[in-house]
Amino acid sequence: MFKGGWDLFRGSRTATARGAGAERGGAKARSRARVVCVASGKGGTGKSIVTSNLAVLRAQAGERVLLVDFDAGMANAHLLLGVQPRFDLGHVLEGEVSAAYAAVPGPAGMHLIAGGVGRAALLNPTPRELERLFAALAPLEEQFDLILVDHGAGLSYATLAHMAAATNVLLVTTHEVTALSDAYALYKQATLVNPSIHAGMVFNRAPDEATALAAWARFQGAATKFLSRTPELVGWVPQDDAIGRSVQARTPIVLGEPRSAAAAAIARVAAWPGIDAVRAHGSFYEAARRALR
Ligand SMILES: Nc1ncnc2c1ncn2[C@@H]1O[C@H](COP(=O)(O)OP(=O)(O)OP(=O)(O)O)[C@@H](O)[C@H]1O
Ligand SMILES: [Mg+2]
Repeated sequence: MFKGGWDLFRGSRTATARGAGAERGGAKARSRARVVCVASGKGGTGKSIVTSNLAVLRAQAGERVLLVDFDAGMANAHLLLGVQPRFDLGHVLEGEVSAAYAAVPGPAGMHLIAGGVGRAALLNPTPRELERLFAALAPLEEQFDLILVDHGAGLSYATLAHMAAATNVLLVTTHEVTALSDAYALYKQATLVNPSIHAGMVFNRAPDEATALAAWARFQGAATKFLSRTPELVGWVPQDDAIGRSVQARTPIVLGEPRSAAAAAIARVAAWPGIDAVRAHGSFYEAARRALR
């Protein structure tokens, strides 16, 4: 039996004592969380900025939101959110605490499970380790309305297992050809492991709308030609110095500078109907585990 999973969840280190789900309880706690993955392919496109701000905005709107920083080993969502978690996914993997116990409250009442920094075990988890992590995370589906997964760059087994289980994903890219090419590769793999996946696309760090739309046209053209399908355009976020200031201040931009152009654009992304349209037929994490077998 995995030590960090069900056993600890029932023990003293339980997040039911700490988590938003338990605090608010009630009938809502019985429905399963919608899980939306945020990925990109290329590094540094703005996944963590977008995900952390989406989590805050959705929590402000009254949802019980959990952000899982699955950029395991190179995590930084805790820095962007200004929280200092004592435990992270590494501790969960090692069975020291339950996933629920590792979830700490952040801005606007959202919760975060940090990804752990410089943890070798998390940098390259084996399928067995991933299965254990997914099993440990599964109980949280009962405690939150929305789970946002912030992925690392690249196409790891972890990312592919998430893509296989997801109904809706958000691809965050920039207009640069390298980012577009990696986003295309990720989209293609996602559709191969999960033909019914629905992807939304965000163009971040765009100098202007015309540049973002030109990049979208390029992506759409290639996807239509070679995959006979395309993601949905969700929106674009301008290059904005306010983002750099929010990173320095460890305060999400939607809280620190809500009237900035980037915050307004991220708010439009947070209203993407795809986040609400996630179909939860069964357990997301059970489906992710099956994908590893
Ligand atoms: N719209 C923007 N305007 C200005 N700077 C931005 C914008 N979006 C992101 N950045 C800058 O890019 C940096 C990287 O963003 P972020 O950490 O969200 O990328 P990422 O895709 O999560 O990276 P990784 O692949 O390493 O996880 C931020 O720290 C910020 O300085
Ligand atoms: Mg990141």
